[in-house]
Formats: sequence, structure tokens, C-alpha cells
Amino acid sequence: MNKKAIFISTVLLSSVLAPASAQDLATDTIKSFEQLFGVTKGKRRNHTKGFCFIGNLSPKDNAIENYSTSSLFKGTSQVIGRLSHKGGNANAVDDKHADYGMGLSITTASNEKHLMSMNTLDFFPVQTPEAFAELMHAKASGAEAVAAFKKKNADLRRYGAHHSKKPKTLTPYEGTTFNSINSFYLVDENNHKTAVRWSFVPQQTQSLVVPQQHNFFYENMQANLKDHPIVWDMVVTIANDNDDENNAAQPWAGEHTQIIAAELKVSAISTEQNGQCENINYDPLVLSKGFEPSNDPLLQARRNAYAVSFGRRLAGQ
Ligand code: HEM
Repeated sequence: MNKKAIFISTVLLSSVLAPASAQDLATDTIKSFEQLFGVTKGKRRNHTKGFCFIGNLSPKDNAIENYSTSSLFKGTSQVIGRLSHKGGNANAVDDKHADYGMGLSITTASNEKHLMSMNTLDFFPVQTPEAFAELMHAKASGAEAVAAFKKKNADLRRYGAHHSKKPKTLTPYEGTTFNSINSFYLVDENNHKTAVRWSFVPQQTQSLVVPQQHNFFYENMQANLKDHPIVWDMVVTIANDNDDENNAAQPWAGEHTQIIAAELKVSAISTEQNGQCENINYDPLVLSKGFEPSNDPLLQARRNAYAVSFGRRLAGQ
């Protein structure tokens, strides 16, 4: 093969197999979301259906201050949150079990910003941004492509085996546990880092109290909020020595030290139209001092993909 032919075939191959940069990977992943779910103009490409809430986050067990200097754990923070259905369907049904998300935009008492976005999975289906892009490609292509990907990807097989066994009970947003999935570091005053994951766990059972229909989660949460407090505990799990903080597809098994670091109390909910969450990009890498990202490559990939989605929806696309 002459040099020119080698160059052309390399370019062709790389455009099929691997996008040239992290930015291309993000654009490519968003393209797959758009192919799979279609585009709802001006809306998020994932977690498209949802609504806003406001509330506050207050510190609980001060043992957490042994691990982190974060102002999250020093006073009451104000929160603009968003609860959502996972996936790009703006019209997803509420009356069938699904996976959900919770985004938190936190302003601490000392006026620092800290963003979190969590979901209801126990761990991620794949380890790397490249594998996630490939999985999304496969999903956009159909069941056969997903089966072929699953055959060669052990992470996805472990994920499927675990999550298919989880109970499929319909639970409202306010009664659901949300997990950080990715790991982060807590940083103390001596700059010592501790790897953690966390979950927001409802303090009490929250029931389905209004008639179940296509859209009823908003009315349900409104009714529960009128009746009693809606509060989640922020439960921080400290990594053991053998836990891998850079692989979100790997659950942390066995006994762990857990600290109930804070509690999140909802004060009101509102639609996206009337609330304050629609124009927030819940970028998981905006952290208060006292937190640092792990080297999990999915975190930067999430930032990149959220930015593409955010840019498009702000442009009305
Ligand atoms: C590389 C992996 C991932 C990709 C490509 C991705 C993609 C996206 C995109 C495009 C959005 C919409 C962003 C916007 O327009 O504001 C989004 C939202 C969201 N993602 Fe991810 N995601 C990934 C991993 C995760 C993980 C691991 C979690 C949970 C820990 C998560 C939780 C959420 C939540 C809760 C939202 C909704 C935030 C909101 O309400 O605005 N994502 N994701």
C-alpha cells in the first residue's frame, strides 16, 4: 500500500473506531443519545423529564470533619435540586419502575458552589468513556449490537447480572436512594485525601399517595410534602484499602465505615418552567474546597458531555 493509501485508510479507520479527542467523544456520545431518544428541543439530552425543588443541606455527624474541610459540613447550605427520569424521553411514564436522577446545586454558607448529580444505579455499566460511547452506539443501533457488545464486555455483564436481580417496586422520587457512583476524595486540613462514595438515603418511607397514571410524580411529591417532611441523609462511605476509586463499574463490597455527614431537606417543589433548575448544568466536577475528583475518567467525560448537552439546549436545539 502506498503512503497516501495508508494515510487515508488510517483516517477512515480511526473515524470509525475512535473519535480523535475527548471533545469528539462527548459529541459522539451525545449523538447516540439523540439517535436513541430523539431530540426534545431546548431540553437535556439525558434525564430529560424532571422537575425542580429547593431546600437546604445541613451538617449532621461532625466525624466527617476529620476527613474534609469542606464548607458543606460547616453550616447550612442552600440547594436548588432537580429530580429526573434517567434517559432522554421527555414523556417517560411515572407509573412504571425506572431509574432516576438527582442533581444538587449547593451554595454553602460561605458562598462556595458545589454540584452533585447522582442516580439510582448501584454502579456504572462500563469503566471508561470510550466503552460508554461504544455502548451508546450499540443501543442506538439495536438489540443485536448491544448483545455483541455485552459478549465482549465483562463490566456490562456484571452490571446486568446485579441490576436484573434488584426489586422493581415502583417508588416515588422522594422515597428513592441516589448514589454518587463515581468516587471523590475528601481532603483534610493536612491535605490528606480519603476516597469516598456517597448516597442520599430517604429518612422515611415515602408512599404513592395519589392515583398512579402517566404523570403523577409531581403531584405525589407535593402531597407527601404537605403531609410530612421530605429529608434525605447524605451517607458517606469511606473506601477500604482494596477499593478501586477510579473504576465506577466496580462496586465496593463488604463492611465499610459510613458517616451520615449531612441531611437534605426539601422546602418546595416546582415545575421546570416555574423553578430555578432548568438552566443549571449539574457538572459533577464543580466541588467545594475539601473535595477533589478521583482519577475516574468518567468524571471528565461527564463534564464534557454535559457541556455539549447544555450548550445545545441553551441554544434552543
Ligand atoms: C460518561 C458517562 C455519562 C454521560 C455521557 C452522561 C450524560 C448525561 C447528559 C448528556 C446529561 C444532561 C446534561 C444537561 O443537559 O444538563 C446528564 C444528566 C444527568 N446525569 Fe449523566 N451521564 C453519565 C454518567 C452519569 C452518572 C455516573 C451519573 C450518576 C452518578 C449521572 C447522573 C446524571 C443526572 C442526575 C443528570 C441530570 C441532572 C439534571 O437534572 O440536570 N450521569 N447525563
